[in-house]
Parts: sequence; structure tokens; C-alpha cells
Amino acid sequence: MDWTAWHDKYDQTDHWMTRRLKTVQAHIDAALSDAPDGELQVISLCAGDGRDLLEVLAGHPRRDDVRARLVELDPRNTAAAVERAERAGLQRVEVATADAALIDQYEDLAPADLVLVCGVFGNITDPDIERTIAACNQLSRAGGTVI
Ligand SMILES: C[S@@+](CC[C@H](N)C(=O)[O-])C[C@H]1O[C@@H](n2cnc3c(N)ncnc32)[C@H](O)[C@@H]1O
Repeated sequence: MDWTAWHDKYDQTDHWMTRRLKTVQAHIDAALSDAPDGELQVISLCAGDGRDLLEVLAGHPRRDDVRARLVELDPRNTAAAVERAERAGLQRVEVATADAALIDQYEDLAPADLVLVCGVFGNITDPDIERTIAACNQLSRAGGTVI
């Protein structure tokens, strides 16, 4: 799979992936709006080019409260995410070109208020889905949101 070309479907307005993106973004928007006052920590595993979170953050009233880390393996996608974050002036967004399965990627940000694991479960085995869900319990603070 070319994980950069995979994102091209998002440019088609009537594609199911575009509808899924809108749904994910609506949940992100709601999670940020409903989160308690103060600093918010956000983690995105297998973040792709980060548009789900970054497009919402760019116009969200809580944007400056959010410290986020996007972890993604493909350096073309992380370059796109860095560019998107910089264009939006999101200075507290970190983008790591790394294996999202390594828990030490998150040790200074977990437990987080919002954990994104989007577009992942269709691409891994059932036992890995179960392990990932179990890990999300540790990555998310009590009362936090996992999407
Ligand atoms: C289906 S895409 C989803 C991207 C994004 N979360 C979204 O929903 O738009 C899966 C992404 O996971 C990345 N990926 C695959 N294995 C990974 C790993 N072990 N660590 C980090 N990223 C990985 C791929 O490069 C790809 O960008």
C-alpha cells in the first residue's frame, strides 16, 4: 500500500472516506469542546497526514490549549502533517516519524484527553486490534475520548 496516495480519496467529495473523515472530525470537535478547562493532550496513532485533527484544531477555540503528538511511519505523510500544522500556526503540534506501536512514543503525553486511532483497524489482524484497544485504555485518561 502507498500510504501517501491512500489520502487522495479524501479529495473526492462523495467518497466514503471523505464522509468518514467528516464524521471523525465531528467527533474530534465535540471531544475538544466538551473537554475540561486547561491544557489538553492529544495523541494520534498512525496519523497519516494528520488532516483529521489538524483541520479541526486550526479553527477550534481550544486550539492553543492543545498539545498534540502525531505518530506516523511514512515520512512523506509526516512532512505533509508538519506543513499543515505550520500553515495553521499550530505551534504545539509535534509530528514524529516513528512506529506508533512503540508505547514510549507517548510516555510524556499519556494519559491523554483525546486518542485517535483512525483508519487503523481495517488494516491489522484481529489479535492486533484487541491489543491496540487494550493499549488505548492506558493511553487515555479516565473520562477521556478515544476515536
Ligand atoms: C489507513 S491510513 C490512516 C491515516 C489517518 N489516521 C487517517 O485516518 O486519515 C494508515 C496510516 O498508518 C501508517 N502506519 C502503518 N503502520 C504504522 C506504524 N507501525 N506506525 C505508524 N504509522 C503506521 C501508514 O503510513 C498510514 O499513513
